Amino acid sequence: MNAIEIRNLCKNFGEKQALVGLNMTVPMGSIYGFIGENGSGKSTTEKIICGLIHKTSGEVKIYDREHTDADVRANMGVLIEAPGCFPNLTVWNNLMIQATNLSIKDKANAVRKVLTMVRMEGAAGNKFKNCSLGMKQRIGIAMALLGSSKLLVLDEPINGLDADGMRIMREILTDIAKSGATVLISSHILGELEKIATHYGIIRGGKMICEMTADELESSCPRFVALKTSDMKKAKETLKEKFKRVEEDEQKEYLRVYDAENPEQVVKYLYDNSIIVNEIWVDKIGLEEYYINLMNGKGEA
Ligand SMILES: Nc1ncnc2c1ncn2[C@@H]1O[C@H](COP(=O)(O)OP(=O)(O)OP(=O)(O)O)[C@@H](O)[C@H]1O
Ligand SMILES: [Mg+2]
Repeated sequence: MNAIEIRNLCKNFGEKQALVGLNMTVPMGSIYGFIGENGSGKSTTEKIICGLIHKTSGEVKIYDREHTDADVRANMGVLIEAPGCFPNLTVWNNLMIQATNLSIKDKANAVRKVLTMVRMEGAAGNKFKNCSLGMKQRIGIAMALLGSSKLLVLDEPINGLDADGMRIMREILTDIAKSGATVLISSHILGELEKIATHYGIIRGGKMICEMTADELESSCPRFVALKTSDMKKAKETLKEKFKRVEEDEQKEYLRVYDAENPEQVVKYLYDNSIIVNEIWVDKIGLEEYYINLMNGKGEA
């Protein structure tokens, strides 16, 4: 069974067609990275899943049930835009109010538990308005986690976080997935997403253009031998006489040889042509470059 299954989803805002036959499959227990340029339809999809807006047509199933069923909704935690908190109340009281709204029996225990999950035990007494952006995002996740969420839907939860905030968020989301929940997360910060996502969906113009597992991404990201020499121009010309695909990296700091057998082959060939290699390593393209190439119509590589 999948956590989310969407077939042929359409959403119009008046004349504007935001989603045009979107398909999406989010496996249970996955951390699903939802990627796409501004305005491609990520938030719209997530809002429909959570029942914040209505679909125009199509099918949305959560754990094989209609997404509008009340008990399906009760098992879903949502963080879309900023968490709905009272600024002058403490973190603790905000969560207690949410627990009351959800009719949770042992409220204090439930709040303590989610505060621990988001590493905020020490900040329960802080007023919400005095919390940093990173803390507010974590409070939002705590709010979403209340009520034994099996599915968390998070819209750009790592936007604007510093390196430490990102690391904490990474740990929190990985913990949540380990506990058996499914996490759907949209983000533009692909380098971060790549560290935690088990699955990806790439949306463009309201349509899913590609879904894949992290392993599939890994195997479709080409490997290359990277190198630096003191005369990059000459090295490139020389390498091109033997290898089919030799390119400079984006910043033009090093050369990439895609079809070399190993670094030794490249070093030897350049040495035989009187070029000394200063640095050499093996690397592969990451999610960000894969995505940019896909968007530019360059296929996978
Ligand atoms: N309430 C609305 N009324 C009219 N158009 C809307 C509304 N909400 C979204 N849209 C339009 O639908 C399209 C998809 O928007 P959406 O917010 O889902 O994109 P997104 O992928 O989340 O973008 P971003 O990365 O900027 O958050 C956009 O063209 C947007 O302008
Ligand atoms: Mg959005």
